[in-house]
Amino acid sequence: MDKLVIEGGRPLNGEVAISGAKNAALPILFSALLTDGPCVYHNIPYLRDILSTIELLETLGARCTFEGRTVTIDAGGMCCHEAPYDLVRKMRASILVLGPLMARLKQARVSLPGGCAIGARPINLHLRGLERMGARIELSHGYVETSVDKLRGNAIYFDVVTVTGTENLMMAATLAEGTTILRNAAREPEIIALADVLRRMGARISGDGSEEITIEGVDRLTPVETTIIPDRIEAGTFVAAAALTGGDVTVTHCDTRHLGAILHKIRLTGAVLDILPDQVRVRSEGRITSVDIKTQPYPGFPTDMQAQFMALMTVGRGLSMVSETIFENRFIHVSELQRMGADITVSGDTALVKGVPHLSAAPVMASDLRASASLVMAGLVARGQTVVNRVYHLDRGYEAMEEKFKRLGAAIWREKG
Ligand code: EPU
Repeated sequence: MDKLVIEGGRPLNGEVAISGAKNAALPILFSALLTDGPCVYHNIPYLRDILSTIELLETLGARCTFEGRTVTIDAGGMCCHEAPYDLVRKMRASILVLGPLMARLKQARVSLPGGCAIGARPINLHLRGLERMGARIELSHGYVETSVDKLRGNAIYFDVVTVTGTENLMMAATLAEGTTILRNAAREPEIIALADVLRRMGARISGDGSEEITIEGVDRLTPVETTIIPDRIEAGTFVAAAALTGGDVTVTHCDTRHLGAILHKIRLTGAVLDILPDQVRVRSEGRITSVDIKTQPYPGFPTDMQAQFMALMTVGRGLSMVSETIFENRFIHVSELQRMGADITVSGDTALVKGVPHLSAAPVMASDLRASASLVMAGLVARGQTVVNRVYHLDRGYEAMEEKFKRLGAAIWREKG
């Protein structure tokens, strides 16, 4: 298994370009199943989760190519409606196949994703929504089997705001009979990006970006060519890393409208930010002021930035209260940060981080994507040589992270294992 080795203590300087957003690309790639011709997607990040998605789409009978940053998917020959365990277990977001399969083939057999390191992550709201649209649902042998004669639009209320749940039902509703209204829907930029693509395919969707999304079903959707939005979590990670190490970094090719809560909090730490629509310059002396955060659905502070922000707080001046309200087990990075000398106390969904003057390098290991990013950040400021094991988690969701940090002046390299 590959590992990353980091010699801490170097400030970051220069420019870093942000890649396309993983969590926008995944539902948009699955949406190709709603059409029967070639869809062309640009600015796709080269990530393990994208390769897993392509493998799944090919298993269903779609023809896919991935050249440069462009993916082409032709689902004209889609013949299969099963997402097998071996693919779903590699990537939970495989559940996004459910909505498109139900819309196009009226049946689906998808392995239940199960829990993951950060929480139980049920899919009950995806299933309840499909049921409201007339689907029959059975669970057997670890699979969810759904079928319907004709999906019919209905009003669907989400008890909890769910991103992929909103995306799945939005996709299912595009080809349903009648009107679907999604209430308490997710408002993430990735939802709007998917709605934009679906509209360009011919779908009739309004209200995306608000809590109520209306979808009027149409008979058919047509292929599109489109470009994926920038990754707001990757951008936030580099902004936080620059604030942490000190230095002068310009994060380019991002959409700063999507970074509101993150930039607000980083500014409160004392880092100086110059914000333009598609880039942000971060200047920092390194030792920042502690700030509290509480994760919330968008436009609140994203759970996907919590671990990285906590890494920043480990060397803050003062106390920081980090509350995680989205996932019940998303503090797995805490014990690894503690091994690097961080002073953190966890009680329920809250971590109290008391800033220390410096971290001390150690071999560490993480069991999810964003936790890995936080450990890399910690390694960038720790005294000595940090080894981050199980880098495959990072490769799921950060494109060429070590190359990007290296170009900013970090001493970081990969050791193959
Ligand atoms: N939930 C339910 N029932 C459901 C669905 C969700 O109770 O049917 C709960 C979850 O257990 C959780 C909350 O609702 O407590 C929110 O989960 P959500 O469904 O929004 O998460 P997701 O759609 O599975 C996406 C991202 C995650 C990100 C979350 C929250 C993708 C592919 N994944 O997951 O990204 O953390 O939204 O913003 O978009 C990551 O990129 O590292 C990542 C984990």
